[in-house]
Amino acid sequence: SWPGSSGSIASADQIKNISIAIHSQGGLAIAVCDLLACILLTPPATLGFDIAVGSAQRFGVPMGGGGPHAAFLATSNSQARALPGRLVGVSTDTGGRPALRLALQTREQHIRREKATSNICTAQALLANIASFYAVWHGREGLERIAERVHRLTSICVAGLRSSNIEVANTTWFDTIVVRVKSSAEVHQRALAHNILFRNIDATSVGISFDETSNLELIEKLFDIFEINESVAQLDESCELGVTQAMRRNDDFLTQSTFSKYRTEHEMLRYLRRLADKDLALDRTMIPLGSCTMKLNATTEMIPITWPEFANIHPFAPATDVAGYTQLVEELSAMLIEITGYDAISLQPNAGSQGELAGLLAIRAYHLSRNEAQRVICLIPSSAHGTNAASAVMAGMAVVVVACDDRGNVDLIDLRTKCELAGNKLAALMITYPSTHGVFEQKVTDICELVHSHGGQVYVDGANLNALVGVAQPGHFGADVSHLNLHKTFCIPHGGGGPGVGPVGVKKHLAEFLPSHPLSTHDEKRVGAVAAAPNGSASILPISWVYIKLMGAQGLRSATMHAILSANYIASRLDAFYPVLYRGEGGFVAHECILDIREITKITGVTNDDIAKRLMDFGFHAPTMSFPVSGTFMVEPTESETLAEINRFCNAMIAIHAEIQQIATGVISHDESPLHNAPHTVEDLCAPWIHKYSQQQAAYPISAMLGRGYFAPVSRIDAAFGDRNLVCSCEPLESYAISLQ
Ligand SMILES: Cc1ncc(COP(=O)(O)O)c(C=O)c1O
Repeated sequence: SWPGSSGSIASADQIKNISIAIHSQGGLAIAVCDLLACILLTPPATLGFDIAVGSAQRFGVPMGGGGPHAAFLATSNSQARALPGRLVGVSTDTGGRPALRLALQTREQHIRREKATSNICTAQALLANIASFYAVWHGREGLERIAERVHRLTSICVAGLRSSNIEVANTTWFDTIVVRVKSSAEVHQRALAHNILFRNIDATSVGISFDETSNLELIEKLFDIFEINESVAQLDESCELGVTQAMRRNDDFLTQSTFSKYRTEHEMLRYLRRLADKDLALDRTMIPLGSCTMKLNATTEMIPITWPEFANIHPFAPATDVAGYTQLVEELSAMLIEITGYDAISLQPNAGSQGELAGLLAIRAYHLSRNEAQRVICLIPSSAHGTNAASAVMAGMAVVVVACDDRGNVDLIDLRTKCELAGNKLAALMITYPSTHGVFEQKVTDICELVHSHGGQVYVDGANLNALVGVAQPGHFGADVSHLNLHKTFCIPHGGGGPGVGPVGVKKHLAEFLPSHPLSTHDEKRVGAVAAAPNGSASILPISWVYIKLMGAQGLRSATMHAILSANYIASRLDAFYPVLYRGEGGFVAHECILDIREITKITGVTNDDIAKRLMDFGFHAPTMSFPVSGTFMVEPTESETLAEINRFCNAMIAIHAEIQQIATGVISHDESPLHNAPHTVEDLCAPWIHKYSQQQAAYPISAMLGRGYFAPVSRIDAAFGDRNLVCSCEPLESYAISLQ
């Protein structure tokens, strides 16, 4: 990595030799690098590296006690398709307009179990956007100014220390140095008097880092701490720099005009507004995405994350500085333990999928501690989310799929057979409860007992906890481990794909195997860290804390009841139009329901894609599509939607069904129908009208739509083209230009 943890920077030749040596053995070279340093230094790709990774926190994101922060993983085109998660693909819509879309979707929810290599689902999309906008705002020149300034302040500090015969270990540096002292304890003590924390390396070394908030006043304070009697202004004139000319980059970068156009606050604001206008977010409409729990993110819950007391805390600050965070973590943990019925919880995982990995690693460590290393088989029902299988593979387990019955429940006969076949190799069963089919499995306790009787552990995926809070506890009905998604049930906004928090809760016998951290004092039985900071994305924990405190026990139970009631209301209103695929034994669904579109497709050719796009013309975001069953919608209203909004959605679905009927009865063909041409953009509506239905039907299909504020920015996108054309670097702006013809 460069700069390394000490701040030293290897020479370009040394680094090049590393990549040459690795390539000569057939390997690939990975560089861990700092984004701000990359502004000045020759970048990893130029030095022959295949992959670069690092954190984008540096670009305008507060420390936040450890997160959320976006990481980046960059690679050359040759490795692009091996990247985990989803990438953006550039495609065109039916009007020939350029359109961006998320490509390679099949890696995530729909991933083929045996192909699972990455469990990334919720990531850090919002934080990636924040970091990008830091670059958009500053542009290349601004970033260079910031990097030069940080580097210069570090160099002044080095010059001051050296002129006072204090040893600086580095011969090269960008923003970080290691200083050798007689007694670190003494130096830390003096620094504390100035409200400064140095990195505690060992008894005779301290680390100092600078960033864009550092200034000459800070240098004066440092000189005071180290008793340096030099003029900062004079050193500024004469100091030697830590980055030599030979190390500097001399290529062009951030050349797209986006990085130079928005230099006034007004223009930047308008640019952000224009981008936000393309979004169909919760501030315009309900987002009925099943398994996502898109609920209200109340302002009161959000306010505390703006407080500097949460935002500006370093994740490794001493315990004496973080009493508030400690209390928050303890109280939130205790509340989540009470809600789930588990005995211990770790807030470290940054997403549900990371919680899965942490939970499965705990199960693996548990079996190892009992000398049962052979227990590696993880049973997963066919309806499970793709991340379940991927996490199991990442935790070193082998995935065996268990069938589901006609009602969407785990097929008990198949489960029994697979448990017997697995024998003493059975490590775990991973189920989702209520299931991803949207039903409460009546036999969940029997399932847990069966797996336990074969020596396996039960992992209950808690993504659907919105149907359980206050009414049932996985820790009590037989599960050993669950992750929760605080970004679903506990109100952290989804951020367009993250940040998330995926706490992992366990029963007592697994507590000692929860994630650890190099800085924590827990015993070594714990598995390693699953995130860089001890409490993961600490700064967004206040959102869930406030939510639970505001709701109280009664409020939480009532929310669950309302979520279930709303889903059942939708199921009963829409069943006659789109049959509800699965119901529990009493005929009810849980907090979401699956609407079957397959018969409609068979008869009319109308696909769930057509209905999803037509819903945009009605001002709605589509429900979850083809998960867990292909050719279906999974609808989850949550407790935060009013009856009026739920009715608005049902009315839209029923109106769309009437349009489908027109195709079924031969009034209009599928190709000529508004469904096939949806969504209709403003440009489509203004162009000479060529369709068999009216402009009014296209734009304002029901009277309730009059005054609608949202029009899709592009129409149907060519998906295959988008999968073929991944966006791995910025397109020149001209390629986005729209032809007025
Ligand atoms: C059932 C289920 N399990 C696991 C996950 C993964 O959670 P995350 O996206 O937070 O990684 C999801 C996410 O949507 C899910 O629906």
